[in-house]
Amino acid sequence: MGKITIAIDGYSSTGKSTIAKKLANALNYIYVDTGAMYRAVTLYALNQNYIGENEDIQSLIVDLPKIDLKFIPNQKLGMSEMYLNGENVEREIRAMQVSSFVSKVATIPEVRHKLVEMQQQMGKDKGLVMDGRDIGTVVFPDAELKIYMTASPKARATRRYKELLDRGEIVSYEEVLENVQKRDFIDSTREVSPLRKAEDAIEFDNSDMGLEEQFERIYDLAQRVIVN
Ligand code: DC
Repeated sequence: MGKITIAIDGYSSTGKSTIAKKLANALNYIYVDTGAMYRAVTLYALNQNYIGENEDIQSLIVDLPKIDLKFIPNQKLGMSEMYLNGENVEREIRAMQVSSFVSKVATIPEVRHKLVEMQQQMGKDKGLVMDGRDIGTVVFPDAELKIYMTASPKARATRRYKELLDRGEIVSYEEVLENVQKRDFIDSTREVSPLRKAEDAIEFDNSDMGLEEQFERIYDLAQRVIVN
């Protein structure tokens, strides 16, 4: 049975990563969360004061070769975690501050170029599930299976709000909804590789669909593509 490449794209908080992780586990494939890579570059830029109160995108671009990103498996958690220049930043990259600036950093062509190259390298032997915004359109336009996930902004903000509360962050639902809508706008209108459905992607609206049902359907699709 040959290994395939599975691309899962969609707006933020559509539950892409939950499905992608589960699918990778079930198929014994590698899972790559490309959003974590954009988030780690954003964290670097915030730490260096290249974005936020001051803005110095040029210095961020100059620093790109110095930004080392690695996914290192955490055996206890059964998942890989993001390391930025040798430091585990898995928790920090999920904070609201990073979420507020990541879409902006993701519009920088030089950042995208670096990360897309890394992603293509990770997927060169197939056997992986990668989630993001441009996986089916730019990173792996030849992926054998492409999924495009959507859900209403309210359904997504509710999920994200619960996640942040569980982590102990103090945020309001309105703030989260506003962030989700703002990111949707930036992600889908940016000039370089905007979020859009690849022509051959299968669309899933999961506003009212449970995780198990979605997983069953996507797993079934993957199995069919693999045996063919
Ligand atoms: O999937 P996420 O919400 O963690 O992604 C964070 C941001 O990174 C998102 O707002 C857009 C950007 N991103 C991107 O532009 N391209 C990708 N392949 C993945 C994420």
